[in-house]
Amino acid sequence: MNPTGSSAIDVTNLACGYGETIVLKDISFAVAPREILFIIGGSGCGKSTLLRCLMGLSVPIHGTVAYFGRSFTGSDAADRRSLLKTFGILYQGSALWSSMTVAENVSLPLEENTSLSRSDREAVVAYKLEEVGLTAASGLYPSELSGGMKKRAALARALALDPVILFLDEPSEGLDPITSREMDHLIGEVRETTQVTMLIVSHQLSSIFRLADRVLVLDQASKGIIAEGAPATLAASSTDPRVHEFLRQDIPGAHDSKELPALVNTSR
Ligand SMILES: Nc1ncnc2c1ncn2[C@@H]1O[C@H](COP(=O)(O)OP(=O)(O)O)[C@@H](O)[C@H]1O
Ligand SMILES: [Mg+2]
Repeated sequence: MNPTGSSAIDVTNLACGYGETIVLKDISFAVAPREILFIIGGSGCGKSTLLRCLMGLSVPIHGTVAYFGRSFTGSDAADRRSLLKTFGILYQGSALWSSMTVAENVSLPLEENTSLSRSDREAVVAYKLEEVGLTAASGLYPSELSGGMKKRAALARALALDPVILFLDEPSEGLDPITSREMDHLIGEVRETTQVTMLIVSHQLSSIFRLADRVLVLDQASKGIIAEGAPATLAASSTDPRVHEFLRQDIPGAHDSKELPALVNTSR
């Protein structure tokens, strides 16, 4: 843990997995307040598993996690609950409740975690839906939404409690490039209008270059972090072929996009 408490998130020697299986080990990193940190790496390398450990959905095998200098892994139940209320979570696949309307989905965290009156909850929900451009869809059910609308509803729900930390697991997975750009724009607006710190899992290269202050690259074989830095710096100067391959993956237009830095080999 950072003894000064100046980091939003401090992860120290974390190991996580399932039963006897270790997915990640020796994971240490810190996230500054208001930073947008992307966690990237191939499918199955443990990105969601890491988020689950950080969000308290699974217990780490080893190591510690602290938020703003307060231990999370060593906290008692009451402390843990109060920290959990400061998190906003967009799960991979959105995970909206199919039997609830968009408005009801967004209202649920307010019902469960606040003592707001019904009319106050409705006002908050209306505001959050307006923020993500879903006012007209508030009475629709998830099955009636497009992929992009589902993600936006999930973002509105994640923002319902005005989180201090926002965890987004693949926020633009499965979206076409235009819808994905809209989602990035919304996330950028959240950054501009709040003090939130964000951890985003994504392998959308365009999102990484648009939004990330820093990326952590995870690797399945070594079960750890193989690179860390600003995406443009890593793309330009990492000498690790796994990092290169990832940050220069063959998406249409990747090699002539203005958003991608020129690949300069600075190794001497
Ligand atoms: N609930 C689970 N039980 C057992 N193994 C799991 C579970 N969820 C994921 N795994 C395994 O953990 C590894 C990492 O998965 P995951 O964190 O979902 O990867 P990513 O999000 O990077 O694609 C994979 O080998 C996956 O099969
Ligand atoms: Mg995942």
